[in-house]
Formats: sequence, structure tokens, C-alpha cells
Amino acid sequence: MNNEINNRLKEYCDKIEARLAAFTADKDEFRGIVTEAMEYSLMAGGKRLRPVLMLEFCRMCGGDPDKFLDIACTIEMIHTCSLIHDDLPCMDNDDYRRGKPSCHKAFPENIALLAGDALEVLPFEVISDAALSGVIDAKTALMLISVLSKSIGVNGMIGGQVIDLQSEGKEISMDVLDTLQAYKTGALIEAACVMGVILSGRFDRIPEAAAYASALGRAFQIVDDILDVTSTFEELGKPIGSDTEQNKTTYVSVLGLDRSFTEAEALTAQALGILSGFEDNEFLSALTKQLLSRRS
Ligand code: IPE
Ligand code: IPE
Ligand code: MG
Ligand code: MG
Ligand code: MG
Repeated sequence: MNNEINNRLKEYCDKIEARLAAFTADKDEFRGIVTEAMEYSLMAGGKRLRPVLMLEFCRMCGGDPDKFLDIACTIEMIHTCSLIHDDLPCMDNDDYRRGKPSCHKAFPENIALLAGDALEVLPFEVISDAALSGVIDAKTALMLISVLSKSIGVNGMIGGQVIDLQSEGKEISMDVLDTLQAYKTGALIEAACVMGVILSGRFDRIPEAAAYASALGRAFQIVDDILDVTSTFEELGKPIGSDTEQNKTTYVSVLGLDRSFTEAEALTAQALGILSGFEDNEFLSALTKQLLSRRS
């Protein structure tokens, strides 16, 4: 990635992280432990892909991303919740995340569970408050809440996690694997892109943003499955070989490494093709390509 693109990514991440930190700044004497756990996981790093996608789609469609930093944080809150819960002993039982002990290793398990829950509802407070204070109008808020809530629930990320758990140790068809992925990972990525378009007011661009997200989301999960086998703990910041250990059915377990990569390449090309229909797409095109060869 060239310097200009890298600088822009860092600029976005710095702005997002400054706002994220503000949400957990106050710590009450008795409830503060859960706020600390929320802060611990939110601020542990991570690529911030989903808020960057939201802000960039808003910008490419003519909106001002700087006005919507708090709303961009909402998708990172949901994503971080999904990671806290994903790592729990009753889920993937992983002890490290983002290069640090998982939330339930740094805090009691019950507090980690509740920190995830708190991060799952905070976005709805943030979006409704943005409407009440006039940052967005009421219809925009309803549209955002509609998209975000659907992407989290049984017809979104949570539904995907259920299929993921039920597929452990089983042979599943490519169709089921694609569905698993589309819900588990694709739904939040799609919500990020579509929410960005909604913030810009260019509702006519929603279908293209969703199509881009669908291709990118699948490529992203395929690479995540590949990295579980080919990366190192130091690079990835989470345990290697976790999928095999938990008997997960992944793109690598179904297709093997080579075919998985070929599939991720084809999906990335598809995503780039859709992106070329958007003006001023250089940054997101470069980021989309870079995600294919990422090491973390
Ligand atoms: C990991 O997501 C979980 C998946 C949905 C594959 P990321 O790879 O975006 O994790 P962070 O946010 O960078 O830690
Ligand atoms: C996680 O998929 C998807 C969600 C957290 C919703 P994985 O279980 O593959 O994610 P990692 O590899 O632990 O980050
Ligand atoms: Mg998982
Ligand atoms: Mg996991
Ligand atoms: Mg994984």
C-alpha cells in the first residue's frame, strides 16, 4: 500500500479511536469494571475495517465523514462485542485477541459476557441520540437502526454464529458454508457499507454497496480462515490453529488452502469491479486489494 493510502487509513483510524475512547471514559465506582472491560477490548487495536468502510462509503457518495464518527463507532462496538463473545469458552474458547489476553482472560467471564452485551446495545443509544441532537434526521436514524439491528440478529451475525457452532465436526455443502459466512461475517460488513451510503443520503447506491460488501465479506472470511492456518500468533494477535482445534468447518477445511485463495482472489476482483462504479474509489480499491494479502 502506498504512503498516501496508508496515511489516509491511519487518519481514519486515529479519528475513530479518539471517538471510541470517549464512550468508555467515565467509570462508575460500582459498574466501572464492565466499562473497563468494554474499553479493554474496544481499544485493544484491530483493523477498524468496518467503521472505515462506513465512512468511506459516506464520502464516496458525497457525504462528510467527519460528521458521522460516532455513528461509525457503532459498527466497531457491535464487531467488538461479537469478538468478545466469539472467544468465550462456550464459543471458540480462544485466550488471545488483538494481541492481548481475551476479554474473559483479562476480566471475570461474567463481566466479559456483560461487556459484550453492553457494547451490543450502546450503538442504539448513540444513533437515537444523534437524531435527538440533530446530527441526523429521524428517518435516517430509523434506517440506520433497521439495517444495523437486522445485521446483528438471527438473520445476521448471531444467526451465522449459530450455523458455525452447529457445523463443528460436520461435512457441510458449499451452499451452507457460504450462508454461514454471509451471516457470520458478511452481515456486519454489509451493514457498515450500507449505513455509510444512508448517511450520505444517496439511497440509490445501496444495492451496489451491498453487492460490494457481499463479495468483500466472503473474501475477508476466506482470508481469515487461511490465516488461521498460515499466519503466526505474533502477526495475527490471536491463536493459530484454533479452527482445527475446535473442529470448525471453514473454507480451508472444505476447499483446501489453494482453492480458498483462488476463490478469495476472484471475489476481490468482483468487489473491485463493483467499486469502479463509485467516484473517487482509489483509497477503498487499494484497501480492498490489500485485505487479500493481509497478514493479520
Ligand atoms: C475478525 O475480524 C473476525 C471476523 C469476522 C473474521 P477482523 O479481522 O476485522 O478483526 P479485527 O477487528 O481486525 O481485530
Ligand atoms: C468470527 O469468526 C465471526 C464473528 C466474531 C462474528 P471467527 O471465529 O473465524 O473469528 P476469529 O478467527 O476468532 O477472529
Ligand atoms: Mg467463531
Ligand atoms: Mg473465533
Ligand atoms: Mg477465524
